[in-house]
Amino acid sequence: MMEHKLRLGVNIDHVATIRNARGGSFPDPIRAALLAAQAGADGITAHLREDRRHISDSDITRLTNEVNLPLNFEMAATEEMLGIALRHRPHAACIVPEKREERTTEGGLDAKSGFDKLKPCVEKLLDAGIRVSLFIEADPEQLDAVKALGAPVIELHTGAYCDETGPKRDAELARIVKAAAYADQLGLECHAGHGLTYDTVKPIAEIPSIRELNIGHFLIGEAVFCGLAEAMEKMRSLMDEARTGKK
Ligand code: PXP
Repeated sequence: MMEHKLRLGVNIDHVATIRNARGGSFPDPIRAALLAAQAGADGITAHLREDRRHISDSDITRLTNEVNLPLNFEMAATEEMLGIALRHRPHAACIVPEKREERTTEGGLDAKSGFDKLKPCVEKLLDAGIRVSLFIEADPEQLDAVKALGAPVIELHTGAYCDETGPKRDAELARIVKAAAYADQLGLECHAGHGLTYDTVKPIAEIPSIRELNIGHFLIGEAVFCGLAEAMEKMRSLMDEARTGKK
């Protein structure tokens, strides 16, 4: 299996969560994205939710116009979000579940049951030159569904792995390791994310076929104590140590 550089995508949603708690314009998620770019992020991730609970439409416009990094636009597979994605043409679109019925029991997008609804959305995004990924559980049936949909990328949901402890966490990790190897076999580029922290990132970063980690909540939380650049630097060095085996 070929070893690839591991990219760090910084999710800035929760800067917007804090802003929206008071209304107004502070703190500014675009300022966080610019800071992340300066501190060496490989990409910015933002989820425009249907209820706009954090990122707003104008945040997406500003991220597109003002930040010189690939934008990974997280979206539900709805007509509204598809229209917004086609208008902005981000580097990538990651299709995520927002409603219960779009989810598997673990929490990833149910690409298998939702195949017919997802297919036209994936096709239109691909036709527009947007790199499409689907945020799924580490389940071979879900990977097969993504392959059949024609999307080139999966993002494996690391939430259950991060939430568990002891042997249950080991079992979740084993599932992710197996799915990442299967993605490689299918020719799907593999990303991972959700809930990753300094304590949980290394075993995921060690998986050689994973090309990108998208991390938000923990980094933004740590930034309160040490600043975003320092939090990112520590995360990046843990990722590098895991990848190279060097301290
Ligand atoms: N990847 C995807 C697809 C997500 O939906 C999220 C959460 O918005 C993340 C990564 C980042 O998760 P966290 O904020 O827990 O680091």
